[in-house]
Amino acid sequence: MGAIIRGLGICVPENILTNAELERMVETSDEWITTRTGIKERHILPKDSGLHASDLGAAAALSALEKAGIKPEQVGAIIAGSVVPDKQFPATACFIQEKIGAKNAFAFDITAACAGFVYGVNLASLLIDSGQCDNVLVIGAEVLSRVVDWTDRNTCILFGDAGAAALISKGPKDRGVIRSLLRSDGGQAGILYLDNILSDKATMRMDGKQVFKLAVSEVSKVVKDTLALENLLPKDVDLLVMHQANIRILTAIAEKLDLPEEKVMINVNRYGNTSSASIPLALYEAERDGRLKPGMLVALAAVGGGMSWGCNLVRW
Ligand code: UT7
Repeated sequence: MGAIIRGLGICVPENILTNAELERMVETSDEWITTRTGIKERHILPKDSGLHASDLGAAAALSALEKAGIKPEQVGAIIAGSVVPDKQFPATACFIQEKIGAKNAFAFDITAACAGFVYGVNLASLLIDSGQCDNVLVIGAEVLSRVVDWTDRNTCILFGDAGAAALISKGPKDRGVIRSLLRSDGGQAGILYLDNILSDKATMRMDGKQVFKLAVSEVSKVVKDTLALENLLPKDVDLLVMHQANIRILTAIAEKLDLPEEKVMINVNRYGNTSSASIPLALYEAERDGRLKPGMLVALAAVGGGMSWGCNLVRW
């Protein structure tokens, strides 16, 4: 059987933070942010909303299930990625399970930061291929605004909050996840990390230039390597949906793969970097906008803290 992406759902907070507002918070400019990152605005979940990552994840999951016509009780597993989990434990996936009423599922989180979704898709496809599950939710649920240092212009302009989910289900053999390839290099842990997650001192730290370089070289390589395992080439890809971190990273990778603009999904301008939620959020918009058609070869690729990166090839 194939492991197909049967439904996508998103939950994005209403509150928008524009570059103009950031100009009033730190020494920056709309011009700098736009030219260096491509970001114009990001959505923020207010702290006083009383809502957490699992609330965004649960709403996104329910919407993915509704699209797929699958009931919460039919879900066999829930895999969530979050760099800002509700609690250290239990898993955010367990909170989501309770909120959506998926009482027959087992639920766990993965810690692969912005690469969480591609790691989750790999695991979900294995659970389905093995026959253990028929329906698996893979969810990115992120409230990065709670761990951003709002006085650090190097990082605070980059991130946004969102929840996004994909329901991966047993389907026809000629569709779905064809192949995944995951990589990690713990030797690079120091270039992107978050300490003291549940304290008021929790702030993300990043060596932007090093992350940028690693992202461009390793993501383009892992996409090529994954394709090569299937005797495919970058030109065979119909749509490349990457983790949305910085438009310059996305265009540099597309250039390395020699892919034209129309084959690359970009929505970082409206959401900023939403970590593990960014790929399902971009997929959701690509599908909504008619950019995903049955039979297309779609490559998903991401890199995040760890450093961790990877690619999933999906026949849509
Ligand atoms: O999911 C993965 C997470 N992280 C990433 O993907 C981030 C990857 N890295 C990046 O996206 C880029 O490295 C950044 C956007 C973070 C920075 O862009 P850059 O082109 O590498 O800029 P830079 O760090 O070399 O800084 C250039 C200048 C510096 O000033 P000086 O030293 O040349 O005087 C910075 O202090 O720009 C300054 N700068 C800013 N100026 C205005 C840094 N941040 C800002 C800012 N506004 N927000």
